[in-house]
Amino acid sequence: SKKIHAEAHLKITVKKGKPAQTKTQSVILLMCEDEKKLSGEAAAVDNKTGGLVKEMLKSTDFTGKALQTAVLYAGKNAPFRRILLAGLGKKNELTAEKIRQTVAKAVRHLRELKVGQAAVAPEWNLLPGQKNTLVASMVEGARLGLYKYLPYKTQEKDDRAEMPRLEIICDPADYTLAAAEARKANIIADAVCFARDLVSAPGNEMTPSILARQARKIADGKKLSCSVLGKAKLKSLGMNALLAVAAGSHEPPQLIILEYKGAKKSAPPVVLAGKGLTFDAGGISLKAAEKMDEMKMDMAGAAAVMAVAHAATRLGLAVNLVCLIPATENMPGGGALKPGDIVRSYSGNTIEIINTDAEGRLILADALAYASRYKPAAVIDIATLTGACIVALGEEVIGMLGTDDALKAGIKKASEAAGELLWELPLWDMYSEMIKSDIADVKNTGGRPAGTITAAAFLNKFTGDYPWVHLDIAGPAWATKDRPYTPKGASGAGVRLLIEYLKNIQAK
Ligand code: BES
Ligand code: MN
Ligand code: ZN
Repeated sequence: SKKIHAEAHLKITVKKGKPAQTKTQSVILLMCEDEKKLSGEAAAVDNKTGGLVKEMLKSTDFTGKALQTAVLYAGKNAPFRRILLAGLGKKNELTAEKIRQTVAKAVRHLRELKVGQAAVAPEWNLLPGQKNTLVASMVEGARLGLYKYLPYKTQEKDDRAEMPRLEIICDPADYTLAAAEARKANIIADAVCFARDLVSAPGNEMTPSILARQARKIADGKKLSCSVLGKAKLKSLGMNALLAVAAGSHEPPQLIILEYKGAKKSAPPVVLAGKGLTFDAGGISLKAAEKMDEMKMDMAGAAAVMAVAHAATRLGLAVNLVCLIPATENMPGGGALKPGDIVRSYSGNTIEIINTDAEGRLILADALAYASRYKPAAVIDIATLTGACIVALGEEVIGMLGTDDALKAGIKKASEAAGELLWELPLWDMYSEMIKSDIADVKNTGGRPAGTITAAAFLNKFTGDYPWVHLDIAGPAWATKDRPYTPKGASGAGVRLLIEYLKNIQAK
């Protein structure tokens, strides 16, 4: 539909040259804290202005501390109109994450000034020996920082103000590397923006059927294929946990399946399962009215998984991938699931429903059991599963639980590279005691204590004998305030993390 706009808000191109000789609205200089001496491109840029940057650094107006920005007008002897100084903080504390944040701050400052175009040089010595990472983090920071969700703004034209063009200026010797890396980073940024678009879309225009349509649209008919199981098929398969959640809604549930073949046919796939609650009212265990509107974001796991499948295809990653997306609403209609009901899940396990608002684990239970048929190398599910995870870890951190140390280590490593923070919670046997039912095999909540863990313990009852990790993104999926490269709203949590993980496990 026309409302989804995953296309770039910002066009980034790589060019051969020197920033000091570039005709542009603004040169961006990334500066470390207390850098008294200018070197390299910064010195050349400063020379063009007759020493204005040096002059500024002599004052305390700009010290280069993290995320500080300042603007200088270059004067008529320079081919560039302005210099945007952006602080990186201490040189010895520099990371890819700081670069993403600083570049985001820089371009957002320029956007506020309605500057339409800028140029920046990658200073290789910022991250020695990591040229690819430096280019990628610059591109990601700029693209993700400038993201805005605009399809429903029809009046305030000012809100459309963008910084449409950024040039990355580098030495001819580095051009091939920089251009290739920028292309890949742009694909990754597209994926994050695609996930943000899907999550930002309002529930009335992002129903399970519309989500399925979006999935069919990204399938290319070659390496990425899509199939969607509707209500009748789900019934005949016995996906009763998914059907039970959907029973209170007029919107039919969908099981969306995306399959990407990037490795040899026989290679066991990684299965990604994403929670696709296009709206979670809580069902009969109705949620409070306050902030219920935010529950349109309860399909952020689904969005992440779809975005990853799209990016894997565009990047041509050498992996096989299966994405399972159970999609439904959780509504309190007359046919709705009730507390006390017992549901016979796809796995055969019976579930006593204590709280209909613990619905994500129900639909994932069927997806995780279904995953076994693919004989997967690993299964990762990603879900806005528990408010308790926000209580435990805060809004910016993913909760990780799982059964396989190697898989967990791989995801941890990817999280560090992607700058998506995560923390592991334990999955000891005592937690599954807490979800024992008196009359069924399991109950769907264990009460308030350890809410994130008992939810994972519940999921674990439905996993097969494959390595499994669960990612709870209830916090990070939605930013309640602006962060440097995560504007308030849908964040695209998990997308870069999972792409990084898949990159690392590619067949050699
Ligand atoms: N989608 C919610 C979890 C959630 C809460 C995500 C806040 C993002 C922000 C989930 O379906 C839910 O309602 N969980 C309940 C579980 C409880 C009933 C055991 C919760 O967290 O309160
Ligand atoms: Mn719920
Ligand atoms: Zn939910």
